[in-house]
Amino acid sequence: MGVGFSDNIVDEIKSRCNIVDVIGRHVPLKKSGSNHKGVCPFHNEKTPSFVVSETKQIFTCFGCGATGDVIEFVQRYNNLDFNEAVEKLAGEYGIEIKQSNTHGEKERAVLYELNREAAAYFYRCFTKAPNPGFDYMKKRGIEPAILRKFGIGYADGEWDSLLQYFKNKGTDIETLLELGLISNSSGKYYDKYRDRVIFPIINTRGKVIGFGGRILGDGAPKYLNSPESPIFFKKNNLYGLNLTRQDINKENYVILVEGYMDVISLYQHGVRNVSASLGTALTENQAAMLKRYTDHVILSYDADTAGQAAALRGLDILHKSGCKVKVLQVTDGKDPDEFIKKNGKDEFLQLVQKAMPYAEYKIHLLKQRVDLHTTEGSVQFLQEAAQILKELSPVEADVYIQKIAKETKISEGAIRLEIYGNNNTENIRKHNTPDIHEGNHTHGIEINMGTATALEKNLIKLMLLKSNYVPRIKPFEWIFKSPAAYKIYELIFSVYKDDEEIDIKKVEDSLESEDNWVLNDIIENIHLADKEEQVFQDCIHRIEESRTEKREQEIIKILSILDDENDQGKIEELTIELMEIQKAKNKERR
Ligand code: CTP
Ligand code: MN
Repeated sequence: MGVGFSDNIVDEIKSRCNIVDVIGRHVPLKKSGSNHKGVCPFHNEKTPSFVVSETKQIFTCFGCGATGDVIEFVQRYNNLDFNEAVEKLAGEYGIEIKQSNTHGEKERAVLYELNREAAAYFYRCFTKAPNPGFDYMKKRGIEPAILRKFGIGYADGEWDSLLQYFKNKGTDIETLLELGLISNSSGKYYDKYRDRVIFPIINTRGKVIGFGGRILGDGAPKYLNSPESPIFFKKNNLYGLNLTRQDINKENYVILVEGYMDVISLYQHGVRNVSASLGTALTENQAAMLKRYTDHVILSYDADTAGQAAALRGLDILHKSGCKVKVLQVTDGKDPDEFIKKNGKDEFLQLVQKAMPYAEYKIHLLKQRVDLHTTEGSVQFLQEAAQILKELSPVEADVYIQKIAKETKISEGAIRLEIYGNNNTENIRKHNTPDIHEGNHTHGIEINMGTATALEKNLIKLMLLKSNYVPRIKPFEWIFKSPAAYKIYELIFSVYKDDEEIDIKKVEDSLESEDNWVLNDIIENIHLADKEEQVFQDCIHRIEESRTEKREQEIIKILSILDDENDQGKIEELTIELMEIQKAKNKERR
């Protein structure tokens, strides 16, 4: 068993993938005593005889005799072999298969146990006798029952309370250091958490993996958190899930907040489908973790700019992970904790109702950034809004297109054109000012590295054959958009400036291999058959054409934005220019 994977991975999977969650996603389970019961997926039955034990982390069917652990369930249910099942679970739970973890199962069990003992110690200090930590939490309005539920503790103000406690038990100090419970300064050991409220961080298997310690009142650092350790990977965990995952599953959405206190406060007020990312930027693993319970996420971050920026980053990560995300903004107080304390559950749920979906929120932010009263602002708005709407399904996008058209002066047609484009303009649309070289040739998304367009190749060949084409091509240098073509052009131009003759060797020597392939391709495969001047004229003609095409699209766009009453003069001027362009185009076709 387990060929190809270290025992650590298997252990990591077993300790992180709660069997009730994994099976519960496929088989409806009902709590029955200390177990969960359901209809067996492995044989045909009407009365449930399939039992899942959370404490033992195994399933057993009393009807057909099927039994096993979480990996065996995934194997049988999905018809996979052991390795495939491990890979599947590791993927879903964000467990790095290749991680070289030197800690074996036994060592990790020791760490879990020490954390559990420490949590119990802090809990006793918090609950058994009056203490400043309890007073602080009480002052913040959290009820004793809720504090107990979250296992909140207190670390007293002494330098060695926890240290002495563990010393008496004969615990190895190095291990406590590794867990970040004890600190060390020039050989002297002391408690890391002193005079702080302790928030144990507990995974969905009920193991204490780390701690957050809050200072009582103001001061810095506000929170002290456990360092990463063999049992604590910040990017893989979310605070509160151990208590709230069933509620998240039931409500089929999660409210994702920033802090410990937000979770606890919302929970106390009856909003229990909540979890926190603990101040760090949300990761893909955390998103994957949430998706095990729901794919509807409501981001409810702090109202300050830092919180809003974090929300924006989280939004993208969740969206990319396939979640349906909305953003909730608290309208009173700095965070969800303060809001619900002042306004209660019902008003908070009204904010949930009003939360803005992904695209709406992004467009809302965009509107704040641009000035829709100016043409430039409107064009920028149109371009950026199109980028946002491009990511939606056409049906979804359509709703926004109509809305935006109504709210701005931009026509639905112009928005659609910007989103879905129009094939023949795709290659030139990124270029705003054809006469000025922007010096940035890598931003065009349609460009492949290491290739060049036919137009670019022909122009380069011309310059290599006859250097007097270099100054004639210079005014059109903006046409070199592929990175390789642009580099080659630049070199040719600098060689030309120095000695008016093009020494191909000089160009080759200064190019990197990939660009040299492009150059060689041009030298060997582009044949102008002594018709240089004709090829040159053809190229110029094509450049002019794409330039007018681009200008035509631009005018159409601006016209769709201008206001009939206020911009009369400009409308007239642009309409005339547009007519000229279209007239010329028609003439050419005939
Ligand atoms: N955080 C941290 N270290 C800090 C500040 C914050 O680790 N010095 C993390 C904590 O997990 C905290 C979260 O970021 O819960 C959000 O920070 P903040 O909004 O400042 O704290 P709150 O949770 O709102 O705590 P409180 O209400 O007690 O101020
Ligand atoms: Mn707060």
